[in-house]
Amino acid sequence: MIYNFDQEIDRRGTNSAKWGVVPQGGRYVPLESAPQFLEGKRLLPLWVADMDFLAPQPVIDALIQRVQHGIFGYNGPGLSYRQAVVDWMARRHGWAVDADWIVATPGVVPALYMLVRTFVAPGQRVIIQPPVYHPFFSAASNNEVEAAHNPLLLAGGRYEMDFAGLDTLARQPDTAMLILCSPHNPVGRVWTPEELRRLGEICLEHDVLVVADEIHGDLIYPGHRFTPFATLGEAFAQNTIVCTAPSKTFNLAGLATSNIIIPNRELRLRFERTLNNIGLHGVNTLGMVALEAAYTHGEEWLTQVMDYIAGNLRFLRDFVAEHLPQIQVIEPEGTYLVWLDCRGLGLDKAELERLMLGEARVFLNEGYIFGREGDGFERINIACPRSILGEALQRIKEATQGVGHVR
Ligand SMILES: Cc1ncc(COP(=O)(O)O)c(C=O)c1O
Repeated sequence: MIYNFDQEIDRRGTNSAKWGVVPQGGRYVPLESAPQFLEGKRLLPLWVADMDFLAPQPVIDALIQRVQHGIFGYNGPGLSYRQAVVDWMARRHGWAVDADWIVATPGVVPALYMLVRTFVAPGQRVIIQPPVYHPFFSAASNNEVEAAHNPLLLAGGRYEMDFAGLDTLARQPDTAMLILCSPHNPVGRVWTPEELRRLGEICLEHDVLVVADEIHGDLIYPGHRFTPFATLGEAFAQNTIVCTAPSKTFNLAGLATSNIIIPNRELRLRFERTLNNIGLHGVNTLGMVALEAAYTHGEEWLTQVMDYIAGNLRFLRDFVAEHLPQIQVIEPEGTYLVWLDCRGLGLDKAELERLMLGEARVFLNEGYIFGREGDGFERINIACPRSILGEALQRIKEATQGVGHVR
């Protein structure tokens, strides 16, 4: 079937985080309690990583059928659920996963927190590569573990890993883990096999466990290819824990269902023990139904949604080139999150936030939440109808008129 991603769907009143909260005084508050946003222009939210698109029709149909079954007791991932994951990884990514390696959790973020708790002792260190998805910082701080920063290098509008820095941090005796974001949120890099191999070799040499967050691995632009870390060889597979989910791919985040894939039996048992210790058993009934339907029948939708998002990316690129010369689009290779270098506006981070949120009334993710390397940047989510993206960009254009310099 042909999907219509131009359709604007009212998400208010659905407990949507994206449309229901605003940042205020360093935290998120319900939109209804922020009076300054209730009058005048509606706030356009292009922040958190979910899409303003309907899920694939086969997913909706499967959910309706399951709801009509009417019994919602305890559950666990059954054989057909596991097989759907195995088939997806084989078909889409050439990764031969064994069904036993799959540990289902209600989200990648809780899994990351539990992984650090399991494999890193207080006082040890976890390497992260900012600017990076902000829960990577909390994964360390929540567990009294130090985050060792190996910032990405930005050269000629492209981010790369600093392998010398990585080696220096990995060889410290108290470094236990590296959390890899692959593809990388927010800078949009799809790491090449060579880059991943170099990283993997450094980690193997210094006995550093690689947690690979591959949640964005299905969202790749033409001309790029995603490489699952564990496909690079058996030694790498045995030294990694891979976080996957259909939630970004098919816009199912609210169904809280993800899969942590752990080829190494001993690591898997240790992780399962942690989950048992906190009584975390099973995942959401409807999440499992949605996953199975999406991984089995969702490819047609995924092809179309990526086409649409690639169109939005072209639209954004053209608009910025023509009307926002102070801003540079960091070209993404994957994900629907785009990293905007706004340093040419010459504003400090508070002024930049005020301009976007207060004046333009466009709610983006402020770059600084991804680490101080993100100061002066904004992350925009382009998985929305083009009309909303266009309105947001038009407002940013109006708010930035006469601000900053041409880059
Ligand atoms: C890199 C990365 N990991 C994890 C998540 C969230 O995962 P979950 O909703 O399964 O906790 C996101 C969401 O934006 C993400 O970008």
